[in-house]
This record gives sequence, structure tokens and C-alpha cells, in this order.
Amino acid sequence: MLEKIKETVTFIESKRDFNAKIGIVLGTGLGGLVNEINIEYELDYKDIPNFPVSTVHGHQGKLIYGKLAGKYVLAMQGRFHYYEGYSMQEVTFPIRVMKLLGIESLLVSNAAGGVNPGFHVGDMMIIKDHINLFGNNPLIGKNIAELGTRFPDMTEVYDSKLVNKANEICKKHNFPVQQGIYAGVTGPTFETIAEYKYIHIIGADAVGMSTVPEVIVAKHMQMTCFAISIISDLGVGDNVAVVTHQEVLDVAGSVEPKMTILFKELISFID
Ligand code: HPA
Repeated sequence: MLEKIKETVTFIESKRDFNAKIGIVLGTGLGGLVNEINIEYELDYKDIPNFPVSTVHGHQGKLIYGKLAGKYVLAMQGRFHYYEGYSMQEVTFPIRVMKLLGIESLLVSNAAGGVNPGFHVGDMMIIKDHINLFGNNPLIGKNIAELGTRFPDMTEVYDSKLVNKANEICKKHNFPVQQGIYAGVTGPTFETIAEYKYIHIIGADAVGMSTVPEVIVAKHMQMTCFAISIISDLGVGDNVAVVTHQEVLDVAGSVEPKMTILFKELISFID
């Protein structure tokens, strides 16, 4: 595994200069941030050795290097999901590559279903903590000591400085913002009504099918993590409206301009 990661890192470094300390995973419908990046080069996942290739509609597969808000960033346009059939190690492979390329902070976005009755469709939820309901963990297997410790601490996974700053930025712009706990599930089914209730009862505010694997791996490697959900639908009470992937994409698209502003300001704040 470590050799594969290093092979991919060498390939990317051989392309051009690499100077980014900030990595971004652009989730569902949030690819618009790319238009703000002063792109220096792009790599299709299919051309990067050892990279999985994304299969879901609405997820493009490109690694983008350039300047955003005055800083070099490496953005993943399109991520890998466990429900696509990739292993946890494959889903998180690009994050490990990012770390060895010198990325120190990881910013992640996703779409999620709100299970907190105080939430509205279109809210942004800054993730304060997560609950891993994947029934799996990307760190299962032989520990790669060069990357991190066998039993990593998970008490402050999401950087509180970035949480506070993001909250401040949203408040300043009057963006509808919440803070909460994200439950990560495998999908690809959306939740039953009983599952939405259960997820709320165990302490989560939103549920989605990504982010947790990437963040676990990033935290293992001591990266600073920030993640935010767009609440694309609600799983609250007994009359839950039917959710479709298209609705998730539509809501995410409508929140995109706010996310773009937030990410730009957050990036200019990071050292
Ligand atoms: N459940 C799980 N994942 C999701 C949802 C949901 O309701 N909405 C967007 N991603």
C-alpha cells in the first residue's frame, strides 16, 4: 500500500511544481468551486497510477491543482464512495496521496439528509463530530506506521478553529448555518423512516454516505480537517418525503454559491 501511494505521489510530483498545503474534496453538486480556482494543471483520475475511477452520475474524476484565494490547493473533483464497490482503502487512497504530497489541511463537502427537526432543506451544517456507521473502518488491516499510529485519537477530529471561523463567515453573510454531528452510512439506499429516527436518537443531526472514511484516514495522518454538509432533504418525523438523487443534486447546486464564498474565505484564513 505505502509503495503504491509513493508511486502515485512521484507521478504527480513529476508533472510540475507542487506547492499546496490545502486539499479539498468537492462533494455532490459542489464542483462549482473549481471555476474559482486559477488552474495550473488538471489530471484525470484515469491517467493517475493506482487511482480508482469514479462511476456515479454527477461526479467527475479530476485532480485539480491551482490557486484559490491566494493559496495553492489540490482539489478532488469527484470522490469515491464505498457504495460504488470500492474498498475502504480505495475510497481513502487519494487522501493518503495528498498527505505525502505535503497537504496539511483537508476540507471536505458533502450532501446529507437532516435528521434534526430544527434543520431546513438548503441549510449548511458545519460538522463538529461524526458517528461511523459504515460497519467498517479504513484503518482495519496492518497499520502503516509511516502514516500514523495504530490506535489514533478521535476526540477532536474536526478542527475547532476552522469550525468557529466557518460559523463566523456564514453568520457575517447571513447564510443559513447549523453545527452538528454527521452519521456516515454505506448507502446506496436512503434511510427508512425507522433508520432516520434511530440516527437522530443516537445523537446525529445529519446522515450521508461519505466523508467519514476520508476524515478517519486524514486524522490518522494528523491532518487538520474541516467538513461541511449541505442539507439536501429531511428525515424527520413519520411523513418523510421521498428522496431522489436528482433532488440532492438540485439542492446542492442551489447552495453552491454560498459554499464557494465560504470556502474561499476559509482558505484565505488558513495559514
Ligand atoms: N441519507 C443519506 N445520504 C444522503 C441523504 C440522506 O437522506 N441525502 C443526501 N445524502
